[in-house]
Amino acid sequence: MSEPKVIYLKDYQPPAFAIEQTQLNFDIGPDSVIVSSRLRVVPCGSDTDLVLQGENLTTLAVSLDGVPVDAARMTETESTLTVRGIDSACWLETRVAIDPWGNSSLEGLYKSRTMFCTQCEAEGFRKITWFLDRPDVLSVYTTRVEADKSDCPILLSNGNCINRGDLSDGRHFAEWHDPHPKPSYLFALVAGDLECVTDEFVTVSGRRVVIEVYVEPKDLDKCAHAIASLKRAMRWDEEKYGREYDLDCYMIVAVDDFNMGAMENKGLNIFNTSCVLAHPATTTDAGFQRVEAVVAHEYFHNWSGNRVTCRDWFQLSLKEGFTVYRDACFSADMNSATVKRIEDVNLLRSAQFAEDAGPLAHAVRPASFIEISNFYTLTIYEKGAEIVRMLANMLGPETFRQATDRYFERFDGQAVTCDDFLSVMEEVSGRDLSRFARWYSQAGTPVIDVQDEYNAESQIYRMTLRQSCRPTPETPDKQPFHIPVRIGLLGEAGALALYCDQLATQELADNTDVVLELTDTEQTFVFTRVPERPVPSLCRNFSAPVHVRYPYDEPALVQLLARDDDLFNRWQASQEIAIRHIAAELDGNPLSMDRWTGALEQCLADAALDSAVMAELLHLPTMSYLIDRLEGHDVLALHAARKTVEEKLAIALKPRLHKALQAYHPPAQYQPEAGQIARRSLRNVAARLCVIAGWEQAADWIEAQVRAATNMTDQLAALRMSLLLPDADVSARCLDYFFQQWSHEALVVNQWLAVQAADERGDTLVRLQRLTETAGFQWGNPNKVRALVGTFAGQNYPQFHRNDGQGYQWLADVVGKLDQSNPQLASRLVTPLTRWKQYGARGTAMRNALQGLAGQDLSRDLYEVVHKAL
Ligand code: ARG
Ligand code: ZN
Repeated sequence: MSEPKVIYLKDYQPPAFAIEQTQLNFDIGPDSVIVSSRLRVVPCGSDTDLVLQGENLTTLAVSLDGVPVDAARMTETESTLTVRGIDSACWLETRVAIDPWGNSSLEGLYKSRTMFCTQCEAEGFRKITWFLDRPDVLSVYTTRVEADKSDCPILLSNGNCINRGDLSDGRHFAEWHDPHPKPSYLFALVAGDLECVTDEFVTVSGRRVVIEVYVEPKDLDKCAHAIASLKRAMRWDEEKYGREYDLDCYMIVAVDDFNMGAMENKGLNIFNTSCVLAHPATTTDAGFQRVEAVVAHEYFHNWSGNRVTCRDWFQLSLKEGFTVYRDACFSADMNSATVKRIEDVNLLRSAQFAEDAGPLAHAVRPASFIEISNFYTLTIYEKGAEIVRMLANMLGPETFRQATDRYFERFDGQAVTCDDFLSVMEEVSGRDLSRFARWYSQAGTPVIDVQDEYNAESQIYRMTLRQSCRPTPETPDKQPFHIPVRIGLLGEAGALALYCDQLATQELADNTDVVLELTDTEQTFVFTRVPERPVPSLCRNFSAPVHVRYPYDEPALVQLLARDDDLFNRWQASQEIAIRHIAAELDGNPLSMDRWTGALEQCLADAALDSAVMAELLHLPTMSYLIDRLEGHDVLALHAARKTVEEKLAIALKPRLHKALQAYHPPAQYQPEAGQIARRSLRNVAARLCVIAGWEQAADWIEAQVRAATNMTDQLAALRMSLLLPDADVSARCLDYFFQQWSHEALVVNQWLAVQAADERGDTLVRLQRLTETAGFQWGNPNKVRALVGTFAGQNYPQFHRNDGQGYQWLADVVGKLDQSNPQLASRLVTPLTRWKQYGARGTAMRNALQGLAGQDLSRDLYEVVHKAL
């Protein structure tokens, strides 16, 4: 293909026309869908050429104020329709035919199994009708849908249903009106044979909202958790942000074939089944928590995204970063707050740091893109959320709430920018955030090097922070970031009181925990009345998305692990200790395990410590984080060293872990609530380590668990453990049993696929290839592709990086093939290959695989990723 066009933020121009009203009619026939649209078009300036976007549309008619438009007055290309000479308000009507059956991109209107559904964000609406498909064109929509009544008894769109009825020939229609002006990316339509579970929510001001969750009939028993989560989210947003829901009904539809997790379409959310359906027998604890988080995320978008939306797609993090921050706080309130923080930081450091260190690094507000679909990234979402978290912490709860109130009030009904958000924060707090704004424009993970100096005589402790940041593609030279570094100082007997003249007295209110704001390249903070040489506890609760380097020795880390009063930093210390042991193993100089395991044993014996946090303390750092931290080592050596350290840890802790395992008694009734989840996670990590430590009864225990577990958390945990056994027959029996039991449950089959894709033994590639040819697998279903291909390339290090390079080649072949049908999916799956520079000698084979793709005719999505990575 010819080189695709790059879009730049600096080229932004406001729209030349407004579309005040959008009236759509969908005529769903047996083999085509006719979309008629009436747009109330109003010129905003002197420009009289109206340029609409469209893709894969067959144009049947175009008229202005009821009169067909002369061919001389308009031009249609592959992607635009220009109508000239529009100098006053008018009604523009178009009629197009579209083909949802042939639409495998899962963008626009498409068919998933038996239903028609839409996905419009970011630029899918143009695959439905000619439009100004950009987020700063807000319009009031009225949508009529007509279809065969027996094929599609359910007809849904945004807003409220204002009319419905039967037509001749077994057809029927429904008409929907959404009173809130919205951008086209929030449009949605669903037509199909669905059933619904209904509930009700009464808002704080007493308005009744009907809740409806639409699913295929077989899934009716899996909706309760999503509904309960939605109601909790609705209440939480009223209490924490003063935000009330604004329509009479809130609908959620579960769709099998979906590129992402879910979509916040106004009043009609469309969800990947994996993010909405839940039942104890088929869903793990992590699955229940994911449903709760995604349901809340989409609900919170109603204000942060829908009522106040983005001016252009460079501002995507305005809604996503803020909304992820909101859903993270919600999940923290509903579950173990520390574990939620650990999970989020783990994801950020494993995946977002890698993104920031790779060829696709981009700022939270990027300066350019080729295909916006490639920018639904961990940087936009997770790092964007960290920026909002830093702001919320720096402003404090009251001021931050005042600022969000003002933000929602001032920009309600508008499409705005990240700078607008920041300017409200500045205005309300009176703080200067000009340096802080660099978090939006500069990519890369800052590194903070900490040095300290203690003088016993003067009792003065000086801490120097120095920041730096590696060059990234768009921002090679960095200005200093504004970084809040929360710290404490640990003495022999516990936290020390802090005295520092450079900090406002209010900062010292709690006296043992302060935030140092680093705004220059280097700053020194002087603490007085420090009675002993302290161990610094740095970047507490991960107060900023940075790397912190400090020359700890192991006793200091063990002290932090054993008794830092910041629970997050106890986990952080355990990760650091593990990294040291793995590094030492790689260097052929293994360290003694005693101090580390001694501290962990104490933690295990501590009844006051949350079991969920304890379980996290027993997890070694992820491979992806290790690759980042221990640069320059071969990935297979690193993987082996990690395994060795894990095994040593398991052996040392085995007696205690075994006790923990014996002490576990399953609850009479499964509940996905924090207490039970915590006990299950500790029990399953203890069992896993016992298996690794060579527990004699492991095989019997695992097989019994797989057959008898009464919930998916325990069953799947046991199935995964079976792959750690030396005897392949046991795991084969477990996998068979599991499949027989669950072959009718698509989401469980996906887990079964993922377990096998992560199998590190034997020739996984051959087995996976065979799996793709079985009935349980479909290339058209992104969940299955991600379970198999995504898990293999993203998590199975020894097999993906096998020496003959076949892992890489298989991924490249799969991606090249998928690109023909679903570019978004293809360009996401290729990510592991783009990290080739991190893999030393193996990188050449990875790069060759990418090069092979670059020679093919690629979608814009895959083109951008492949070419930036080469
Ligand atoms: N706005 C959705 C969410 O985060 C995600 C939409 C993703 N769309 C896309 N084209 N990648 O809730
Ligand atoms: Zn979102």
